[in-house]
Amino acid sequence: MAYGHGKVILFGEHSVVHGRPALARAVSQGVEVRALQSPASVTTLHIDPWQVDLDTGAAPNRGHEALQRALKIARGFYPNAPFELTLRADVRLPGGAGMGSSAAIGVAVLRAMDEAYGQARTDVDVFDRSLDWEKVFHGNPSGVDNAMATYGGTALYVRGQPLSPVTQAQPIQLLAAYSGPSPSTEKMVSSVKQQLDADPVGVGRLFDEIADIVQRGKSALERGDTATLGSCMNENHQRLITLKLSTDKLNQMVAAACSAGALGAKLTGGGGGGCMLALVDGPTINYGKDAKERVPLLALARQADAALRANGTARERALSAALVLRYLPGQNTSKQDRAYALAMQRVAAQFPADDDVLGLTADALMVASFSYEGEGYDHTLMDAAIALLEAVLARAPEHTPAIHFYIHATEVVGKPDLAERHADQLARLAPRASHLVHMPSHTFYWVGRYQDAAETNHRAVRLGIENAERLGLKGPEGVWGLPYHAHNVIFGLGGALMAGDSRIALDLARPLVGAAGPRDKAEPWWQLLAASGYFAMARFDPAGVLALPEPKLPYLKAAWHYARGESLIWAGDLAGAAKEIEAIPAKVVTDKPDDEALAAEQMLGITRAVLTGRIAMAERRWADAATALRQGAEIEETESFSDFTDPPAFWYPVRRDLAAALLASGDAAGAQREAQASLLLRKFDPVAMQTLAAARAVLGRDSALVR
Ligand code: MEV
Repeated sequence: MAYGHGKVILFGEHSVVHGRPALARAVSQGVEVRALQSPASVTTLHIDPWQVDLDTGAAPNRGHEALQRALKIARGFYPNAPFELTLRADVRLPGGAGMGSSAAIGVAVLRAMDEAYGQARTDVDVFDRSLDWEKVFHGNPSGVDNAMATYGGTALYVRGQPLSPVTQAQPIQLLAAYSGPSPSTEKMVSSVKQQLDADPVGVGRLFDEIADIVQRGKSALERGDTATLGSCMNENHQRLITLKLSTDKLNQMVAAACSAGALGAKLTGGGGGGCMLALVDGPTINYGKDAKERVPLLALARQADAALRANGTARERALSAALVLRYLPGQNTSKQDRAYALAMQRVAAQFPADDDVLGLTADALMVASFSYEGEGYDHTLMDAAIALLEAVLARAPEHTPAIHFYIHATEVVGKPDLAERHADQLARLAPRASHLVHMPSHTFYWVGRYQDAAETNHRAVRLGIENAERLGLKGPEGVWGLPYHAHNVIFGLGGALMAGDSRIALDLARPLVGAAGPRDKAEPWWQLLAASGYFAMARFDPAGVLALPEPKLPYLKAAWHYARGESLIWAGDLAGAAKEIEAIPAKVVTDKPDDEALAAEQMLGITRAVLTGRIAMAERRWADAATALRQGAEIEETESFSDFTDPPAFWYPVRRDLAAALLASGDAAGAQREAQASLLLRKFDPVAMQTLAAARAVLGRDSALVR
């Protein structure tokens, strides 16, 4: 099997034809060619999925004259060949899209011929010969496409010089989107040549400016400075516009990508159409789509499906057909989610070696698993997703979408430790994607690495703040308007509160309390989550809590009273704390009694029980304390409350306090039992571990009761 890489040009297309440098990067898709000995008197080439057939015979292959000429040139390199060949090319790149398909076909054809004729050839030779192939199409190719098709990787190319590989400081994510057909590269190259002839000084200056962008872009890539890398792409695009290489469509796509948060974007390749390339943070696909969102997506999927039916690859056709099923109309979207997941399973069976297809299939299965109508989720679909993700991660351990989904799936099935070694890599692999920096905390929290959960979310929160600034999100909503910001803050608080990290906890809690306090509208669910800001203040800034204004929303008010209660107990004002308990209502009347309202009521019950227990502890009434704390723990551990949010809505396992109350009462065996039970709920909780150690110390190391 012979291979040629597809490529994108990051910087320097066209000016590279005129001796300036270009920076290019191979993409994961390319061209594969198989060669078989043929009894015929000519060599034939069949190109899938374009349904193109050629041969080296005398009769012209109508519509494919250039390809026929190129094939004849390739065949001419083997004058003493003992037999002819049947060549079958599988092109997994869009043609005429600026992704180097013709060079990749040339390189793969030449390598296939070498293999069939038993010729050992160096890459330098393959490159030289493929340049002759490429000249048929482009007249005056710089050679960048052939060099990339031959060698792959990321590299700086200067015409006539060996390719110089570039080492990136960190992985980057690029998105290529097709704007439509383009005139031939030859035409675009000759239009630039005409401009150069007409204005050698002006156009030469533009080329020099692009050369400077290429060097700055290269060093940004080497330093891992994605902000500069993105702005270099924008600068390069402006120069390509000046050279009349862009189109309205490409410009619109560049603008759309940048306003959606891309760090930079440009056309790539010959221009006049073809692909737009954007430097992005993703992929962070997570959710299914609701009925309304599906309407425009169905139109897009149908458009893609129709376009690809003519000359898309088998993979593209299978994917677009599955997408159409996903977005078909209907209010009950779970039916479509399931149809899409099953269709994707068939696509995965067709392309088992394709990591991206398997990753998308796993995502589809997980979404369908949750839109299941029974209790919880569909275990069969979730297990199937896990099996696919494990296959991907076994061969591509740095596949960020697979890690993202694997963290979710293993958490859902209660085996977070399976994802731990992958979670350790994710933030490094996508260091600017705040959601992917956040994701490992789903594993860290549940394997007991609370400090890591706090730190990775703290970083995700900072990225979110930077993103909000970049996107110009202003006003009181500001960064809170970003979909995952509150989640990152709350997850970071979950970790910091368990780890006892006051610095991170307060850094996250103060802005949350500041934003939540004045709100007068929010679902009980959101209020429940935002309550963790008050919990963190109660834990690490008891004096500050007493200065906080009363929030407007009912559950936040209750959290505020709880926090004040904790703070007053800390200050020794037990009567004041008792008043705060009275101020926490047993329930808050809402117009829709649902799961959210139930969980919020449970939260009220927990906070009342905890304060009651704490006051009793302060008054050395151990039995009363144990009763109240047991009650709090039991509410907290009901399935409906503990499954309600992730991380858990209440900030620590109350059972560990029950253990402390029992220990204080002299029941060390009971304390040991409860501390162990608490550690099953939150692994490696340092407070429960300390109580367990103290209980064991009382029991004596050799006691039969120690286990
Ligand atoms: C095409 O991928 C790149 C161009 O610079 C042409 C070439 O370098 O041969 C437009």
